[in-house]
Amino acid sequence: MNLSVIGAGYVGLVAAACFAEMGHDVICVDNDAEKIKALQAGKIPIHEEFLEEIVKKQHRVHLDFSTSILQAVRESDAVFIAVGTPPSENGEADLSYVEAVSREIARAIKLYPERYRVIVEKSTVPVDTNQSIRRVLLREGVAPECFDVASNPEFLREGTAVHDFLYPDRIVIGCDCSAAEATLRAIYRPLTDNVQGIWGAARLLVTSTKSAELIKHASNAFLAMKISFINAIADLCEKVGANVTEVSEGIGADSRIGCLFLNPGIGYGGSCFPKDVKALRAVAHSCGYEFGLLDEVMKINDARVKKFVDKVRSYLWNLPGKRIAVLGLAFKGGTDDTRDSQAIAIIQQLIHKGCKVIGYDPAAMPKLQAVNFPIEYAANAYEAAANADAVLVLTEWKEFETLDLDRLRAAINKPIPVVIDGRNLFNPVVMEAKGFEYASIGR
Ligand code: NAD
Ligand code: UGA
Repeated sequence: MNLSVIGAGYVGLVAAACFAEMGHDVICVDNDAEKIKALQAGKIPIHEEFLEEIVKKQHRVHLDFSTSILQAVRESDAVFIAVGTPPSENGEADLSYVEAVSREIARAIKLYPERYRVIVEKSTVPVDTNQSIRRVLLREGVAPECFDVASNPEFLREGTAVHDFLYPDRIVIGCDCSAAEATLRAIYRPLTDNVQGIWGAARLLVTSTKSAELIKHASNAFLAMKISFINAIADLCEKVGANVTEVSEGIGADSRIGCLFLNPGIGYGGSCFPKDVKALRAVAHSCGYEFGLLDEVMKINDARVKKFVDKVRSYLWNLPGKRIAVLGLAFKGGTDDTRDSQAIAIIQQLIHKGCKVIGYDPAAMPKLQAVNFPIEYAANAYEAAANADAVLVLTEWKEFETLDLDRLRAAINKPIPVVIDGRNLFNPVVMEAKGFEYASIGR
């Protein structure tokens, strides 16, 4: 099928590349001309496993890039909106990018009304946004029989985005009419019907458009709740002398609960959980329901940064002048994304308290250097750790789990090297045996 994806960010670019890989002809549009120029030149603006390979393979075969929504919509059976929906000051999702794109799509359909098109919400939006998009198109004069608006929320995670897209736990399509459902079913057939014998048979759930919108917000809020829950349990473990790793394993072994997303640490970050919990809270408030459970989820998460900084202080005594090595700057492992990273929030507090911070991250440094984020950057974890008063582990990168601990100890170059692990990546028994003074979360 002919598809366009509007927005070439973490979701749009991955979706466009994967749709192309599935055999569709895709135009990926962004209004950031520099980004489109870079993509046309074969440069991938984000760090995401397998993305570069797929984009290179599909570019000018099934995938093209453009700054023109008009050109893209003209040739498309379905138009996916994948622009940002950041939080506004009162916590509601800011839908101005979605509205701007909807208006441009409307103009394009008016100019080329000859085929039926489905406008698909891929961005995470509050329930009932489909009606607002529909209204924009109708008010711009698009004939109702020319289009439908459907919801197809995206559940990929950064760092494993391509895999998540092509091997999803479920595909949710929210449609209020059979024509839109048929189009979306056809688009996802390669993933649901194992057509090419590659992608298995993903479960496809068809719901109303409103339910699909709500499924997305509720899923993110539920996952955030799991993380806050285990973080609260971790705090309790520290108080009573229990071990949160054991507790988490014991809870997660119950198949009704599940073991994933029960890793305690410095809290959830990123461009989605924080904003989506707030947005769902705002949706509930606007409906007259005060969703206090979500307030608590956010409260627990917000307190993680200060708690961790307090922990650092309890090990180092006075903070001013201390040399702190930070391993991990991204909001999670596997990505260069530092939006709402808890690591960045912790570093900002440490700098504010007079520490000197030397950071290392396998992927996130170029973007931080480009905005002059004021730390010293090291070429690797050992260089960062050199002569540090404490090494902090703030992102769950796989490569940190396999650090050479003897080399790390030698780099720190102190009789008793201090490591404070905000992600519980290391085994306390091993760390002690290697001569570290080691602290982690809830153990
Ligand atoms: P992003 O900021 O990485 O990308 C958004 C892109 O849209 C940018 O490149 C921007 O230039 C472009 N854009 C904005 N206005 C435009 C316009 N008028 N015309 C064309 N392009 C325009 O954002 P993202 O992380 O990809 O998230 C996009 C949406 O997907 C959000 O609603 C987010 O909540 C949701 N989502 C994100 C993830 C994730 O892991 N990042 C996962 C699932 C869902
Ligand atoms: C999350 C969801 O997992 C995706 O399903 C969803 O599509 C996406 O948000 C979105 O809507 O944008 P993502 O933010 O990429 O994906 O990353 P996660 O793996 O969910 O991690 C989010 C944060 O929680 C990270 O800071 C991570 O370190 C933290 N986390 C995660 C924990 O602290 N403990 C855990 O057990 C899991």
